[in-house]
Amino acid sequence: MHILITAGPTREPLDPVRYLTNRSSGKMGYALAEAARDAGHQVTLISGPVHLSAPEGMEVIRVDSARQMFLAVQNHITKVAIAIFSAAVADYRPVMQADQKIKKNAASLTLQLERTEDILGSARSVFGFKGTLVGFAAETENLIANAQDKLSRKGCDLVVANDVSQAGIGFDSSENAVTLCFPGAKTVNLPQQSKMLLARDLMHHIIRIASDTDTGRAD
Ligand code: PMT
Repeated sequence: MHILITAGPTREPLDPVRYLTNRSSGKMGYALAEAARDAGHQVTLISGPVHLSAPEGMEVIRVDSARQMFLAVQNHITKVAIAIFSAAVADYRPVMQADQKIKKNAASLTLQLERTEDILGSARSVFGFKGTLVGFAAETENLIANAQDKLSRKGCDLVVANDVSQAGIGFDSSENAVTLCFPGAKTVNLPQQSKMLLARDLMHHIIRIASDTDTGRAD
């Protein structure tokens, strides 16, 4: 099967030298991409700016901003059977991007932000994606309730709930622990382990969903 995976953070520029971003390292998304490749699948990895080398044996598309990630996903999602959104996409970007470096002339500075494109939320409604759709939910409270809400609102087949308030897992760590949230309120816990091992386990669940669902999608 052909699998699209988003990974890493996005950067939303303020001026030529500054940007808004988050602590995503890309490790979770890259581990998923490698697990999918190792299981014999064709992989398109759309990556925000990270310090990881491009994995071999797959198409890697590098982007910076949420807008660029949106366009890259739009260009590729109709060719794949499975789309997995593990990237930590900025929800807001500065309304204005200064042409020159902002000078510290004023005692304070107020930034006006606007919403970025909701890439996961566009998969079904804008891109018309009919394949297996997997979202992530990075939460610091009400983990399962928020993940179940995303599952139904965004038309996902699975949402991977990641408690990012716990030390040692989640953002920028080598290990992770997640709860898989399926339609019908079914949940499965994947306990703390390396992101590599967790990615293999997670990929088994995702492939099973895709194999069980005959949606007439492209391979
Ligand atoms: O990269 P690592 O350091 O390995 O860390 C892994 C991780 C913590 C980033 C990863 O496991 C994770 O939880 N990824 C989701 C991060 C996130 O931003 O979650 P969210 O709850 O804000 O977003 C929900 C879903 O919508 C995600 O699938 C996200 O990719 C997607 N999204 C969010 C905003 C947006 N504008 N467009 C999107 O598609």
